[in-house]
Amino acid sequence: MADYNKNYIKYFRNIITKEDAKYFVDKFQNEPTMNDPQVDGSLINRQVSFGNEIFDKCIERINSELDTKFVYLGCWIRKYVKGNKLTRHSDNAFKNGYVLSLNLGKSDNIENILYVYEEDKTHEVILDIGDSFFFPGTILEHEREEIKSDYFYSCYLAFKEQKSLSLI
Ligand SMILES: [Fe+2]
Repeated sequence: MADYNKNYIKYFRNIITKEDAKYFVDKFQNEPTMNDPQVDGSLINRQVSFGNEIFDKCIERINSELDTKFVYLGCWIRKYVKGNKLTRHSDNAFKNGYVLSLNLGKSDNIENILYVYEEDKTHEVILDIGDSFFFPGTILEHEREEIKSDYFYSCYLAFKEQKSLSLI
């Protein structure tokens, strides 16, 4: 298994406001539809053009709390609807990246747990609107059981750690 920093696996609650979350869902809905299924063809999952805007809202707190520097790799937003599943997988869109799973909106308070599997531990991630969870998505497998909510929006923001040149 590739290397990852266990200290970087953590919640960032309220990393954006509920108003900002709604603003980004509206942007997502107003972008041209472009089916880009990933992992499970039943999901609406799209790489969005405004990922940098979301990144800008989050990055200062992440860099500060993790005491390092991350750079932007990409951003996808996915609308899950009842019955969808996210089958167990690790991400392959990039190498050794970290991801922030960020809830942008939901129809109700059903938990729709994201399971993130470390070798010795399983994280059961539950997010309210504006909450997020940071983890090495290209390394650790993750999944969701069948979605019970009518819908929720999940933002997937991808990062790479910028290593200081002096350390190479
Ligand atoms: Fe994934």
